[in-house]
Amino acid sequence: MTLNRFSTGIERLDVLLGGGIPEHFSVLITGYTGTGKTILALQLMHNLAQQGLKGLYLTFEEDTRKLIQQGECFGWDVQKLLDDGLLEIHPVRKYEYDIREIISYIAGKRTEDEIGVVVIDSLLMMTGLKRVLSGGTDSAVLQQLLKRQELFQPGVEEELRKEHIAYIIKEIDAMKLMALYVSEPHHEGMLLTAEGVAEYECDGVILLKKKLDKSKVVHEFVLEKLRCTPVECPPQQFFYGKNGIKFA
Ligand SMILES: Nc1ncnc2c1ncn2[C@@H]1O[C@H](COP(=O)(O)OP(=O)(O)OP(=O)(O)O)[C@@H](O)[C@H]1O
Ligand SMILES: [Mg+2]
Repeated sequence: MTLNRFSTGIERLDVLLGGGIPEHFSVLITGYTGTGKTILALQLMHNLAQQGLKGLYLTFEEDTRKLIQQGECFGWDVQKLLDDGLLEIHPVRKYEYDIREIISYIAGKRTEDEIGVVVIDSLLMMTGLKRVLSGGTDSAVLQQLLKRQELFQPGVEEELRKEHIAYIIKEIDAMKLMALYVSEPHHEGMLLTAEGVAEYECDGVILLKKKLDKSKVVHEFVLEKLRCTPVECPPQQFFYGKNGIKFA
């Protein structure tokens, strides 16, 4: 069975991905701060919207205005996408939400507005350590999480975060929705994400890096994995062109 793939709108990237991002796939975009994760996620949402794929961008880090501005720097009319109902940007304030509420919000958007792609920017912020799950639940996984949270104490936090991340990715996967998750590598560079879960749960993993080469900053794109696709390319250099990320 051949997979239905969506073009990223970046020619070279489509080639690297074996034709584009497969329908309903989850892709992790990981990298340290300032490596271009948000720009890549926004560019993908913009380009997917051009193909009629409606998107929801959940941001835990920036507000709508900043994302519109970022788009303007590259000539993307994000405001028009919002006006045309092809994109919704949903800023989530820290400590004001319940992970399950966000998951049901996404599920509602999937069924009612027929969105085809969601961005979570970022998983690390979404699963901040003080997140509180409240209210009743019928899911066995959540029952366990709630039980653990009653025992909330230092040292348990990391385990809880891992379970939350696995829960988020599995729930969104079950909605048959393309998902782009932004995260950060472990601070000691040992793992592709701080918690070491999303890279295993996601179908694809993109690592963005910034390196110094003879006192020049070089941006690097590494496709670490993409299920159902041969991943054979070495790290690729990219730069910020007039219309966003371009490959050298
Ligand atoms: N118009 C532009 N032209 C060239 N480079 C740009 C432009 N806009 C942003 N950048 C570069 O991209 C970097 C930020 O990219 P982005 O916001 O996507 O990073 P990020 O990986 O999401 O970071 P964080 O983890 O802090 O959210 C900036 O530091 C800047 O160097
Ligand atoms: Mg960002």
